[in-house]
Amino acid sequence: MGAAAIDLHGVAFHWPGRGAFGLSIPSLTVAPGETVLLLGDSGSGKSTLLSLICGTVVAQSGTVAVAGTDLAGLSGAGRDRHRADHVGVIFQQFNLLPFGTVQDNILLPLRFAPNRRQRCPDPRKTAAQLCAALGLPDGVLVQRAASLSVGQQQRVAVARALIGQPPILVADEPTSALDETSQAQFLDLLFGQVAAQGSTLVMVSHDPRMAPRFDRVLSMADVIQKGAA
Ligand SMILES: Nc1ncnc2c1ncn2[C@@H]1O[C@H](COP(=O)(O)OP(=O)(O)OP(=O)(O)O)[C@@H](O)[C@H]1O
Ligand SMILES: [Mg+2]
Repeated sequence: MGAAAIDLHGVAFHWPGRGAFGLSIPSLTVAPGETVLLLGDSGSGKSTLLSLICGTVVAQSGTVAVAGTDLAGLSGAGRDRHRADHVGVIFQQFNLLPFGTVQDNILLPLRFAPNRRQRCPDPRKTAAQLCAALGLPDGVLVQRAASLSVGQQQRVAVARALIGQPPILVADEPTSALDETSQAQFLDLLFGQVAAQGSTLVMVSHDPRMAPRFDRVLSMADVIQKGAA
């Protein structure tokens, strides 16, 4: 069997400062191609856990291995490069460049990710195909990101995460701003793309209604023990 897509062991992390929030995760493994929904209340540490997987924060102890690489063995710049190549991230707040065009935003991850760039020989064409697959209107590529509706911006964030087919996708409450019908459509499109690319998907949410779509559903309570204050 190949290496796990994501493998956490004996992880302890706390934000800096006295009495700061902490997580401890005895073990969490996600197989390549698996789709996992992680449910938890607001403040339970879902985004913090995704930051550990992305390598934007580093555990004080334990192992966080992503796409077969132990992140603790990499420098900050090394973790950034590793994330750019292996992990497509859909942030809770989208993190689009508001004054950039949709195309600028979608192509951005390729700048830092040689492997993703290689898988995407014609980036503009791929960006247009992703926009069409995600139900964005024609002509959207040249519009400023800030001029789109919130639901459209969420789709742009997904296109940016998918471009260059990163093996792992991490999504932080990507449907929070959508009504139920738009949410269902959005998930159809996202899962269609995930299936087409064979990606591993870890999505966090506090909304259990989407659970049936996933291979596995975990609660933060199952995954963590609260870290010591
Ligand atoms: N950058 C940070 N610095 C210090 N503490 C932080 C930081 N980010 C989050 N925290 C703390 O970590 C705890 C968990 O926050 P986190 O954002 O991981 O929760 P969440 O489950 O994603 O919540 P939500 O559903 O509201 O997005 C909170 O108590 C928060 O104050
Ligand atoms: Mg969060």
